[in-house]
Amino acid sequence: MFNFKEYLVEKQEIINNSLVNLLDTFPLYSRLMQAVKYSLMAGGKRVRPILCIAACEAVHGELQNVLPIACAIEMIHTYSLIHDDLPAMDNDNLRRGKPTCHIQFDEATAILAGDALLTLAFQILSSADSFQGHHNEDHNAVTRLTIIKILSDAAGCNGMVEGQMLDISSEAKLLDLDKLEHMHSLKTGALIEASVCAGAISGGCNAKKLEHLSSYAKKTGLAFQIIDDILDVEGDPLVMGKCAGTDENRNKNTYPSLMGLKNSKILAEKLISDALNLLDIFDNSADPLRGIAGYIIDRNR
Ligand code: IPE
Ligand code: IPE
Ligand code: MG
Ligand code: MG
Ligand code: MG
Repeated sequence: MFNFKEYLVEKQEIINNSLVNLLDTFPLYSRLMQAVKYSLMAGGKRVRPILCIAACEAVHGELQNVLPIACAIEMIHTYSLIHDDLPAMDNDNLRRGKPTCHIQFDEATAILAGDALLTLAFQILSSADSFQGHHNEDHNAVTRLTIIKILSDAAGCNGMVEGQMLDISSEAKLLDLDKLEHMHSLKTGALIEASVCAGAISGGCNAKKLEHLSSYAKKTGLAFQIIDDILDVEGDPLVMGKCAGTDENRNKNTYPSLMGLKNSKILAEKLISDALNLLDIFDNSADPLRGIAGYIIDRNR
């Protein structure tokens, strides 16, 4: 029987070790890299890199090929958190159970640490060294370019950055549900979908399976942000490692603010159940993806 709890801990450890190894190739005495390491290793759940690895496993791909991609994704995500917390954005002082990067260091260092992480991600994705010794048919240059394209689309002005812009510019405005879904799908959904697709492509996924995985990830990604909104209302800051009640304070548009807590939970559950149905064409190799979907809906952090 597949045990998701064990899977999660095992994969978190693999990702953490791999991230440390990647950082160790840079001079860590610099203040910039101290800030990068501080935020990257502060103890995130690693949901996106694990989704990436799990998608690769679902199509029987190799861990050694997908691991650098998973690490690059966690770097992009961590950069987005550092910038999300800045005074000009959400102005938060707690992240991953620690003072946010701009509180621990300073604002300029936090901005630059974010810039460094984003750039480092693409350096890793495009570097032959990251994949040394893992040359196989599934991992040729075209595969790598496809993955770089998917991740840059999802992170940039067609994805996360545009979603963040919408989030900030619609504070104190009332969005309708369609616009809220669009915003959430961009700011959070896009990178989650890209994580799954990049992992699947790295594993040599065929077109039909990729379509199912991409729809699974769209639904899971939206559910992830709905749960994040719910936790901001009723979560425990000590467990979450970040402050609660911040969305209401900043007049953010969220699912609970637009449709109430109960309906938000029902919607998130429906999305996860639809996401699980999309995995029906897969065998047991997709159990990790099934496990993550369940984890996302049940999480308290
Ligand atoms: C928080 O992401 C930001 C959102 C997009 C909702 P996570 O909940 O994955 O945060 P970490 O990585 O575990 O800290
Ligand atoms: C953040 O959404 C989405 C990102 C792209 C970072 P939130 O602003 O709700 O994330 P938290 O609640 O601060 O983690
Ligand atoms: Mg935000
Ligand atoms: Mg925030
Ligand atoms: Mg939030």
